[in-house]
Amino acid sequence: MKYFIKTFGCQMNASDSERIAGLLKELGFQEASKIQEADLAIFNLCSVRQTAVDRIYGQFNLKSNLNKSKKKTKVFITGCILENDKKKIKEKVDGIFDIRELDKSFKKEIIKILKNEKNDFKTKLLNNRDLEATYLKIRPKYKFKDQAFVPIMTGCDNFCSYCVVPYTRGREWSRSKEEILNEVKDLIKNSYQEIVLLGQNVNSYKGKDENGKEIDFADLLKSINNLSGNFQISFLTSHPKDMSDKLIKVIAKGEKIKKEIHLPFQAGDDEILKKMNRKYTQKDYLNLIEKIKKEIPNVILSTDVIVGFPGETEKQFQETLKVIEKVGFKEVFINKYSPRKGTIAFKKYQDNISWSEKKRRWKEVFDLVEKINNVL
Ligand code: SAH
Ligand code: SF4
Ligand code: F3S
Repeated sequence: MKYFIKTFGCQMNASDSERIAGLLKELGFQEASKIQEADLAIFNLCSVRQTAVDRIYGQFNLKSNLNKSKKKTKVFITGCILENDKKKIKEKVDGIFDIRELDKSFKKEIIKILKNEKNDFKTKLLNNRDLEATYLKIRPKYKFKDQAFVPIMTGCDNFCSYCVVPYTRGREWSRSKEEILNEVKDLIKNSYQEIVLLGQNVNSYKGKDENGKEIDFADLLKSINNLSGNFQISFLTSHPKDMSDKLIKVIAKGEKIKKEIHLPFQAGDDEILKKMNRKYTQKDYLNLIEKIKKEIPNVILSTDVIVGFPGETEKQFQETLKVIEKVGFKEVFINKYSPRKGTIAFKKYQDNISWSEKKRRWKEVFDLVEKINNVL
């Protein structure tokens, strides 16, 4: 039996796909080089923007073609999907499963498929975002040979008003220190050069150490830095509100820790930040950057911004440019606001900035970042 996985979205999804592949390998599946050759096709979806979802719908015409093929490929979807979209996609696929079910019902149902027994994917709609993320224990099939993703936490409790992630990925859940360290030690033994610690908000990590004592991200980073071996550590994404002094010091001192911080600020204007529920002001963010630059003089900073949030005036948009100019980011991921059903911003605010205006603002940010990096 062969499988094929198609991944959309961020590194978290890429990492989850490595765990899906790991499980299927353990069950005796082999990787197909083409979807048409697979018995099992899995689409790992992203819903962060509407454009991401639209692209996904396009892919499902595939299914009717696949079912006509000799293989009768079964198509399953997982990843970040809003309830509404699940209802729409349901009829087009053989099953939907929540990634937190990977080591539980998903495994059971796949074993039924392997034994040619009737499976319950359709009837059960395996879906439970409040489950513990024990699937992270699955031994992954890493995609790369020198750099490896190691998820340390998943889910999000922040509920930024525009964002689907708390709805699609469920509550924050952190792996234990022991589990993470074992995975990292294994990677070091296998000569991996770079360990990328992953999480929606890595710095809100709250795990347990071997004595059951609660530890934070700074403690975890320090322990990984103290492991012997020739490797580097990077991590993403960090939330400004959880960037403690203790953590900044650990990053500054850790000789294996890359001096790169991805710290999304999203918008420069205080009123917009409040409407976004980001829990900091422009001043808080700039003070934090000052502190980071002081402690880590060679730090490389990158960020995410959203342009055209509902009601964002030209003057408010200029505040975003101001922050970019002051900080001098190496890289800025620019997103045009996309209303997402079910989020607070969708319910409360009208998406009143036109597409062409969002595009114009996008270009203005883009040009500014170009200018900064060419001057530096
Ligand atoms: N946890 C990370 C971000 C995860 S989502 C953080 O808090 O920064 C990745 C990026 O997608 C976000 O930083 C944001 O810039 C963008 N994004 C999320 N929802 C969006 C939406 N509705 N419209 C446009 N961009 C969005
Ligand atoms: Fe989304 Fe905000 Fe959570 Fe990031 S912190 S995943 S932007 S809700
Ligand atoms: Fe997309 Fe989910 Fe990542 S919505 S950006 S795949 S966390």
